[in-house]
Amino acid sequence: MASVIGTIFRVATWGESHGAAVGAVVDGCPPRLPITSEEIERQLLRRRPGQSELTTPRGEEDRVEILSGVFEGRTLGTPILLLVRNRDAKTADYEPLRDLYRPSHADYTYQAKYGIRDWRGGGRASARETVGRVAAGAIAEKLLAVALGIEIVAWAAQIADIVAEVDSDRVTRELVDSHPTRCPHPEAAVAMAERISAARAEGDSLGGAVRLVARNVPPGLGEPVFDKLEADLARAMLSIPAAKGFEIGSGFDAARIPGSRHNDPYRMVDGRLRTLTNRSGGIQGGISNGESLLMRVAFKPPATIGKEQETVDAGGRPKMIAAGGRHDPCVLPRAVPIVEAMAALVLADHWLRHLALRGAAERIDGAAT
Ligand SMILES: Cc1cc2nc3c(=O)[nH]c(=O)nc-3n(C[C@H](O)[C@H](O)[C@H](O)COP(=O)(O)O)c2cc1C
Repeated sequence: MASVIGTIFRVATWGESHGAAVGAVVDGCPPRLPITSEEIERQLLRRRPGQSELTTPRGEEDRVEILSGVFEGRTLGTPILLLVRNRDAKTADYEPLRDLYRPSHADYTYQAKYGIRDWRGGGRASARETVGRVAAGAIAEKLLAVALGIEIVAWAAQIADIVAEVDSDRVTRELVDSHPTRCPHPEAAVAMAERISAARAEGDSLGGAVRLVARNVPPGLGEPVFDKLEADLARAMLSIPAAKGFEIGSGFDAARIPGSRHNDPYRMVDGRLRTLTNRSGGIQGGISNGESLLMRVAFKPPATIGKEQETVDAGGRPKMIAAGGRHDPCVLPRAVPIVEAMAALVLADHWLRHLALRGAAERIDGAAT
């Protein structure tokens, strides 16, 4: 199924931008995990539209309803249905775009594929779909925190050509949320905010990059060869709307560095195998090595802009398009919790897969002795 991710910790998202609701079904979450709607909403509120001048003004509250799978504040081990109602959809804004294909949006490709599309608000291609990911990701994140002490922090590391150098060992969510850009570097954050506001005023949009660190990830997560940890992370990240590039560790920089400078030397530190550097981004051979996971996701500038552009309508007639309505001039501030959610979903699934494999091996060893 195309809207499902995961092997043991499985998540299906559902819903369109201007439908009745959006959400997710989480199947395979272990029982007895404490979880509340407040914990889920904490992440949803960071994804929510209308949270600052730098995002779309669509005013959704994004309250989550947990319809199944949680009883007296703990998971039951049964499917968890998470539902968030769409309350502030303004379909009239999209009437003028009904028969027009927005350049670089998904209008044409959805029509070409399905022969029908919900044109209101981008339908299923809208970032509204990511509500389900973030809600499910909050459960995965709680599982990882409770069971393993894993901490996941993402931040806006680049907007257009403004790059923020940030120490991934020290960055916290509190620091990230201290500025509406979600860039934890104070000077860069101010410059980024100015650039986004200027782009919005010109009817234009901007791209950028999110960085993520996952700390306390144990060695052993990842299933070579096709389900290598970085392969599954790449798949998860590139499924986010507007995501265009993924790197683990040194990423594309690895192409220009000699091995002598690229290798991460091993050393025993306090009885634990460590690497002195982390250009591998915490993954070697598709398996986590116990160091922090470090990754970067590139996002394109949103397609829907106020500036006039050439396009065609559904009948192939040439048209000019200049979109009104409510749009993000830059997805970066809102993409941060989505990137965190996707990392949490992949890690939770791989941890459960690793437990299953090792648990079975231990039984085999036990039977053999
Ligand atoms: C948080 C977030 C907000 C977004 N907001 C908008 C938006 O306001 N306008 C827009 O045209 N695209 C927006 N997008 C991107 C589109 O959903 C995406 O570009 C579109 O579905 C086409 O898919 P693709 O860019 O992956 O090819 C947003 C993406 C994210 C992650």
